[in-house]
Amino acid sequence: MNDKTDLAPGSQVPASWWRDGVLYQIYPRSFADSDGDGIGDLVGIRERLDHLAWLGVTGIWLNPTMPSPNDDWGYDVADYCAVHPDLGTIDDLDALIAAAGEREIRVLLDLVPNHTSDRHPWFQDALTGRDARHRDFYVWAPPGPDGGAPNNWISNFGGSAWTFHEPTGEYYLAQFLPTQPDLNWWNEEIRERFDDILRFWFRRGVAGFRIDVCHAIVKDRELRDDPPVTPTDHRKLQHRTVKPVYSANRPEVHDVLRRWRTVADAHGAPDAAQDEAPILVGETYVLELDELMPFYGTGRDELHLAFNFLFVHADLDAAQMREIVEGVEAGLPPDAWAVYTGSNHDAGRLATRWAMDDERRARAALLIVLTLRGTPFLYYGDEIALPNVPLDPETALDPVARRTGDPSDNRDVCRTPMPWTAEPGAGFTTPEATPWLPFGDLAAHNVAAQKADPASTLHLVRDLIALRRRTPDLTAGTYATLDAPDGAWAYRRGDGVAVAVNLSDATVSVPGVAGRIAIGTDRGRDGEAVDGTLDLRPSEGVVVELE
Ligand code: NOJ
Repeated sequence: MNDKTDLAPGSQVPASWWRDGVLYQIYPRSFADSDGDGIGDLVGIRERLDHLAWLGVTGIWLNPTMPSPNDDWGYDVADYCAVHPDLGTIDDLDALIAAAGEREIRVLLDLVPNHTSDRHPWFQDALTGRDARHRDFYVWAPPGPDGGAPNNWISNFGGSAWTFHEPTGEYYLAQFLPTQPDLNWWNEEIRERFDDILRFWFRRGVAGFRIDVCHAIVKDRELRDDPPVTPTDHRKLQHRTVKPVYSANRPEVHDVLRRWRTVADAHGAPDAAQDEAPILVGETYVLELDELMPFYGTGRDELHLAFNFLFVHADLDAAQMREIVEGVEAGLPPDAWAVYTGSNHDAGRLATRWAMDDERRARAALLIVLTLRGTPFLYYGDEIALPNVPLDPETALDPVARRTGDPSDNRDVCRTPMPWTAEPGAGFTTPEATPWLPFGDLAAHNVAAQKADPASTLHLVRDLIALRRRTPDLTAGTYATLDAPDGAWAYRRGDGVAVAVNLSDATVSVPGVAGRIAIGTDRGRDGEAVDGTLDLRPSEGVVVELE
């Protein structure tokens, strides 16, 4: 265990690869294709580990790797203890974990405990009758008084969350696609099965899980109606009719998280197979900070990291982001650690979403994510400010876009293959192969070109990661907001570092900063002395080593 000196000031969280490192999300189908079928795979990821080591990341989270009919691209699991044949074999996964370990990179898998595929053997059995052995593994209810759905819960993908099963005369709950039936987490056997699934992967050296729909696995036992959305609810809720009060974020979810934490911690015990406990990173999709904090429990007994979707869904706006970060600082239990990200496979890429494809703004956003007090997660391609790829929604592979018909729902745009080079195949696949999703503008963004250019975003990100990792103030130091003009955001990290970012359209002067610029988004300013007033052009950000 770490001694006291490893504790972050103002925090009880000891130093670790995940507190002090940078994590990186990989969409396996889109990272690197080793066998020329146009689909990325685990061997491909292994072959690209040197890029990740060069970049300086300490852990990778792989989007789902388990067998699945891919109705929702792996988030519909048909077997929790195997590897999807499109991606390779379990031996490939073992080899990836080993090769990553040689580079001191840990591997997190995606765990999907809220629902299975309807083709999972449990659900196939559940369909056979009301007395089926696995019937109660899922959430069944008789029709409501009007003969319709049992209550007013809606699917996150649109429409009712209930699907009628004619042969057995009951509805089953599916909060995503009807082919993703929700598991019944009130059933003790489900809890035991998942304990075993966690242990199965921990024994193989998996360093933890990103847990899908972590906030919603336990539902109201009485299946009470959700209340209507009100105008004061978060803007991301405004497209829904009802607010997920009973269908998600129930207090009993914390029993499950405590249970998983016990399973994870047991693997970090001194006599266990792994000398460090695996970590639990939750997709905690709640839109109030006071709903987020409980997912850390005491800080020692639930999640290690709880994704902050308020931050993800904030605009790239100094006041909005500062308020959220100040709220995290004020509300985080001393034993808990924050996590910040700007892109993922659902929300889209920060270069488009936050920066409107303006690379200067993307660089400023990356500088923020990599200098806050909390573990940064990058999404593959962020390091080259990769934008979303505009795609025709008519041919979307994403089931959400197909179901809602709303082009803005098309998540394919942020799941396209990694552009390693500008050559045919992009270094992702062979020149002859058709990638499973189209490439974007390869000449505009690719890893090889940026690697050759010291002023590129790729080098900026690498240098920021290196600076963060070698500067204790940037990893573990306290956060304090500094005075800054409207539209700019400035903060001190520890005693020795200040960060200032200008997100406005005008040049600003930030007062009270004296030292030397360690890294600026304009690399021409690296090393510049700051004598008390820091001038920043629009979309410019700097890290200053204070006098
Ligand atoms: C959240 C995942 O991130 C998303 O991609 C998926 O569609 C839903 N959960 C359902 O599993």
